[in-house]
Amino acid sequence: MPPPSSWVLITGAATRLGREMALAFARAGWDVLCHYRHSRTAAEATAGEIAALGRQCRLMTADLAEPDAATHLLAQCTALIGAAPRCIVNNASLFDADDATNANAQSLQRHLASNTITPLLLANALAAQVRAESHAAHGWHSVVHVLDQKVHNLNPDYFSYTVSKLALERSVALQAQALAPQVRVCGLSPGLMYLSGPQTQANFDRASRINLLRQPIDPADVARAAVFIAGNTALSGCTLQADNGQHLVPLARDVMFAIGENPQP
Ligand SMILES: NC(=O)c1ccc[n+]([C@@H]2O[C@H](COP(=O)([O-])OP(=O)(O)OC[C@H]3O[C@@H](n4cnc5c(N)ncnc54)[C@H](OP(=O)(O)O)[C@@H]3O)[C@@H](O)[C@H]2O)c1
Repeated sequence: MPPPSSWVLITGAATRLGREMALAFARAGWDVLCHYRHSRTAAEATAGEIAALGRQCRLMTADLAEPDAATHLLAQCTALIGAAPRCIVNNASLFDADDATNANAQSLQRHLASNTITPLLLANALAAQVRAESHAAHGWHSVVHVLDQKVHNLNPDYFSYTVSKLALERSVALQAQALAPQVRVCGLSPGLMYLSGPQTQANFDRASRINLLRQPIDPADVARAAVFIAGNTALSGCTLQADNGQHLVPLARDVMFAIGENPQP
């Protein structure tokens, strides 16, 4: 019997945290299925960096808002590597501004589709495939749902995004129970790492220090936390908070609106 695959599928792996995670997994000896939607050139650059580290990389594309995205992606995995990946990191995410008073059906549905439904269905599809095909030891396969410190530190800004991540966070334990013993399911909650939305650089420079350590979060540390979850078979149904303690600094609004030089949402 061939050895079980040590491929990781990372969604939204072309840029920012996804790219950082792809490189962290490659440095730890994993091969990487690098999913992208629009960022093809960046995905090719990430693939080149992975190859330079001596690991394999395959590019995959899908719009995660499509209802059949999960089955489509898992089928692409099987076609590319001949098996289910050992780990799926649900990193890709829509982050559009709204608040609790102006959220509309379209915004809620778009965020839920890409940030909640497809990640949950990808985990289910992985478990179904592992049950059908794999003889790997229990705990070998895992799913990491990338969340946000906001789900532990609530405010009503970015309402649709927050609701989508809250639903995913509440599903971590449910899926860990339901998909055991074949697949472990964990959450990973980063804090503010990158300039997003209407944020200015000056605002980001200040906001990124609003955490217990009073210094910016290094995305490489967050990426290494994902690798740790994927490799540690004792972890299931838990969420790691990799945020310099940002979730313990409550604010009435999203940090980018709560400090001076406020951009308008
Ligand atoms: N940025 C932060 O400071 C921060 C803070 C806390 C939590 N997080 C979480 O950490 C993760 C990574 O954050 P990030 O800022 O690096 O993410 P990002 O740049 O906002 O988005 C990552 C990728 O998601 C992909 N994506 C979005 N909608 C998609 C769709 N419908 N179908 C397919 N792909 C889609 C895009 O791929 P293409 O470019 O290829 O289209 C995009 O490059 C997210 O889950 C986010 O919620 C981020």
